[in-house]
Amino acid sequence: MGKDKLRKWKENATFSHVFEPDLKDIVDGATLHRGEWGKRVFGNDRPITLELGCGKGEYTVGLARRHPDRNFIGVDIKGHRFWRGAKTSQEEGLANVAFLRTKIEFVQNFFGPDEVSEIWLTFSDPQPKDDRGTKRITSEVFLRRYQHFVQPGGLIHVKSDSELLYELSKAGWEEAGFPILEDSRDVYGDLVHRVDGNFADVLRIRTYYESRWLEEGKNIHYLRTRA
Ligand SMILES: C[S@@+](CC[C@H](N)C(=O)[O-])C[C@H]1O[C@@H](n2cnc3c(N)ncnc32)[C@H](O)[C@@H]1O
Repeated sequence: MGKDKLRKWKENATFSHVFEPDLKDIVDGATLHRGEWGKRVFGNDRPITLELGCGKGEYTVGLARRHPDRNFIGVDIKGHRFWRGAKTSQEEGLANVAFLRTKIEFVQNFFGPDEVSEIWLTFSDPQPKDDRGTKRITSEVFLRRYQHFVQPGGLIHVKSDSELLYELSKAGWEEAGFPILEDSRDVYGDLVHRVDGNFADVLRIRTYYESRWLEEGKNIHYLRTRA
């Protein structure tokens, strides 16, 4: 076990805005704060945005800085990764940020009907062998699950380096009747120049994985639909 990971896990346990329920309990059907994130965690009923597969939580923290009137929850199975976002949000006194350690397959255990207003899926694993879309968290299969807790019409944003993920997600959405509200194969060469300034600023939030792909000269893709 790396010392650095252990240190981050220990510090996560001290953060009041980090939630790490026992995965075994969740698999057995336990829930946590389901339908009550506003009341119990944030102390208000402002809209909630999720970043699923958040890694270090750059979108969670970046959006929270820009929108103090909204709440943001980063979700990932790897707590040592989102430790970064948890630490930064604590240091900056961002009261509108939380992190949840769980598998996205069980995200329905945490959020009730209409509890979430928006989702960001940032540089998700493309899962090239997943023909049925049961592992790719941007697939129509996952979107149907997200519909259980995203408000009708709530936006779902995908940012990815992967041509494969982009193509498979887009085709799956179209076939399943999820409208393609926006799409681009080149966020920085195309999309940021034709959206409004505020959204261009959001698109320029750069995640850890994104920086790595940009260094390799890859184009960044974007897709948007609604629940
Ligand atoms: C390629 S990384 C991207 C991380 C971050 N969004 C970024 O852009 O830097 C994918 C992330 O998704 C998480 N992840 C993958 N599958 C997951 C699952 N089924 N449940 C929860 N987290 C998952 C991984 O732990 C990892 O942090």
